[in-house]
Amino acid sequence: PVLILLGPPGAGKGTQARMLEEKFGLVQLSTGDLLREAVAQGTEAGKAAKAVMEAGELVSDQIVIDILRDRLAQSDCQRGVILDGFPRTTVQAQALDKLLEESGQKIDAAISLDVDDAAMVTRISGRYTCAGCGEGYHDTFKQPATAGTCDKCQGTDFKRRADDNAETVASRLEAYHAQTAPLIDYYAKAGALSRIDAMGAIDSIAADLAAIVKTAT
Ligand code: AP5
Ligand code: ZN
Repeated sequence: PVLILLGPPGAGKGTQARMLEEKFGLVQLSTGDLLREAVAQGTEAGKAAKAVMEAGELVSDQIVIDILRDRLAQSDCQRGVILDGFPRTTVQAQALDKLLEESGQKIDAAISLDVDDAAMVTRISGRYTCAGCGEGYHDTFKQPATAGTCDKCQGTDFKRRADDNAETVASRLEAYHAQTAPLIDYYAKAGALSRIDAMGAIDSIAADLAAIVKTAT
C-alpha cells in the first residue's frame, strides 16, 4: 500500500507514521529525514538544501523528487510505504502519480491531519528526538517513561532540530498554507482523501488513523 500523511509542521505526521510502521509493517518515508541525512552527509543535494531548510522554506521540487524516487526504489519499500512530508507541492504530487503509475501502484489513502496553527508552535518548540533510534518526544506531551532514557533503545542522548524555533516555524506554516494545503483538494478530487481531527491525544489519533488504513488497504 501507499499512504500519504498530509498536515502542517507539528501536526504529528512523524509520530503517527512511526506508529503505523510498527502496526502495519510499512516503511516510513520522510523527505524531511532524508534531507537532514543529506545535509549531515554533505552531499550535493544536502548542500543545496541546508540554508533553505534553516529558513523554513521548501527545498526545490527537483531535489526532493530525486531523493524520494531513489528511496522508493529500494527493496524494503515493496512492503508498502507511508509518505510523511511528501508531496508538498502540486508538482511533487504529479511526479508521485507518475512514479506510481510506472510501477503499477496507486495511492490507497491521503490522510490530512487537521490542526490549529497556534498549537503547532507549542508542539514544535517542545519537540526532541532520541539520537540513537530517532524516537520522537515532547517536553510536555510525550516524555520517556524514565526521565533521560529512550523508551525504545535505552539511549541517553537526545537532540533538537535546527529549524524548530519560533521564527522558522512561522515560515514553515506559511509555506504549508501557500504550497501544500492545495493538495487537500488535489486528493479530494482523486477520491483518495480522508481527514482526521489531529488536535486530540496521540493514541486516539492513532486509532482513527488505523481504522482508515484498514479500510483503505
Ligand atoms: P519535515 O521534517 O517534514 O518537517 P515538518 O513538515 O515541518 O513536520 P515536522 O517534522 O515538524 O512535524 P510532524 O508533523 O512530523 O510532527 P511530529 O510528529 O514530529 O520538513 C523539514 C523541512 O525539510 C521543511 O521545512 C522543508 O524545508 C524540507 N522538506 C521536507 N520535505 C519536503 C518536500 N517534500 N518538499 C520540499 N521541502 C521539503 O510532532 C511534533 C511534536 O508534537 C513532537 O514533539 C510530538 O511528540 C508532539 N505531538 C505529536 N502529536 C501530538 C499530539 N496529538 N498531541 C500533543 N503532542 C503531539
Ligand atoms: Zn532511542
